Amino acid sequence: MHYPWWHVPLLTAPMLIAIVSVAHVYVSMYAVGGGLFLAAETQHARRTGDRAYLAYLRDHAKFFILLTVVYGAITGVGIWWTIGLASPLATETLIHAFVFGWAIEYVFFAVELAAAFVFYYYWDRLAPRTHVRIGWIYAGAAWISLVLITGITAFMLNSGRWPQTHAFWDGFFNPQFLPQTLARTGGALLLASLYVNLHAALRIREPGLLAVVARRAARPGLLGAALVALGSLWWYAALPASARLALVGAAALNILVMVVLGASGVVLAMLYLGPYRRPGWVTPGFAILLFCFGLAGVGAGEFVREAVRKPFIIHDVIYGNQIWKDEVESLRGRGYLAGGVWTRAWLAARHPEVVTPGGAVDESALAALPAEARLRIGEVLFEHHCNDCHAARAGLSAVAHLAGGWTDEMLRQLVLHPERVQFFMPPWAGTLAEARLLQEYLGSIAEPFPAGLPRGDQFKAEPGAGGRADAR
Ligand code: HEC
Repeated sequence: MHYPWWHVPLLTAPMLIAIVSVAHVYVSMYAVGGGLFLAAETQHARRTGDRAYLAYLRDHAKFFILLTVVYGAITGVGIWWTIGLASPLATETLIHAFVFGWAIEYVFFAVELAAAFVFYYYWDRLAPRTHVRIGWIYAGAAWISLVLITGITAFMLNSGRWPQTHAFWDGFFNPQFLPQTLARTGGALLLASLYVNLHAALRIREPGLLAVVARRAARPGLLGAALVALGSLWWYAALPASARLALVGAAALNILVMVVLGASGVVLAMLYLGPYRRPGWVTPGFAILLFCFGLAGVGAGEFVREAVRKPFIIHDVIYGNQIWKDEVESLRGRGYLAGGVWTRAWLAARHPEVVTPGGAVDESALAALPAEARLRIGEVLFEHHCNDCHAARAGLSAVAHLAGGWTDEMLRQLVLHPERVQFFMPPWAGTLAEARLLQEYLGSIAEPFPAGLPRGDQFKAEPGAGGRADAR
């Protein structure tokens, strides 16, 4: 409502963010862990004079730079592009709250890029010590950019004292900052280990060298797994109450958590038994399988981390449907349509007769509109108020299916108290007349009650049935 609506059919716009972000994280974490690996191992190979290992590291550095700089940068810009369109209010808030954080991030990003190119293209032309130093400069800058971005993204899950103070450091050092930094550092090392095993298994023909690379790459992976486990437990402890309840309460999240735990267990076992204990096991097939389990675990973990934020997109500040937490009360009085720049303009263009000269919406004129116009306005209310999390007729979490067979009274309660139906839905932020239009729209698209099932209609008029529930 504060911004125009971006309609993504079937998928919903936020799911597009999730997909682009996970695609980015797969490589951006490797950009950090792989940098640490390359720096430490180049130092080791130069110190021990292991020419074959050094030659492999150079080959790996080329793959590393191609992937992280090209793919990483493109998907990174892709995130900005998608969040700007899908969650403009939250993006605006993150930019305003952390201007200097972003600026520092870009400085380190530039250092990272420069160091990466010097490290690879001047491999032979620099003195060995200088070359190793450049490797460490890359690794340090990459890790600091991970720390900076984690401060900002962790803020969205638990904003701590920021909503009261609006102070930069309160936002940055939020309760989720340290746990997520720990888990992400571990994840970066773990992913790097899987990337190196995959690359080495596909590129190295000589079994002796492959065994050396696989074993050396397994060590940061095992350390990374320990950091991920510690960070995740701490992450859980630092979750706000709503996120903790969502984690156990939502079936989809239960399944994803099982995927994370299962995939992590398999990765840990494979990494320890294969590359670490018996590097001879590392064949292309083994490495590909290990890599896929790793991606499944990281991807599911990222989805869980994003999903438990509901009903907020920025905890305690902005709801998932692009409304400030603090403006809900005023929108209930003033009206949702009249409260937003774009919804107001839309209504004034289509139905000037319902907008008063002062810019308010005339409720009785709204109620008197023909049925077709009312349904269209109900649809607009749905798009702005619900479409962030639900498709309409078909697609992801489509309301037509979720509310299939619901009675008018149930739909009315749903619209007026979404947060009581499921606590991870934002509260209703409009007038009673607007709620009525949304309810009519939902009724028009909801699937009918499935034929052949008992309907329990005899309980319809039971008096006082809601008494106990209402008291809670
Ligand atoms: C911040 C995200 C979010 C928003 C916004 C949201 N919902 Fe939901 N809603 C959910 C989630 C998550 C569920 C659980 C079902 C699922 O995962 O598909 C849910 C469940 C539902 C259900 C099924 C309830 C049940 O318990 O069976 C209906 C119906 C529904 N929502 C309608 C709406 C309507 C109408 C709106 C807009 C007024 C809305 N939702 C806004 C996240 C949201």
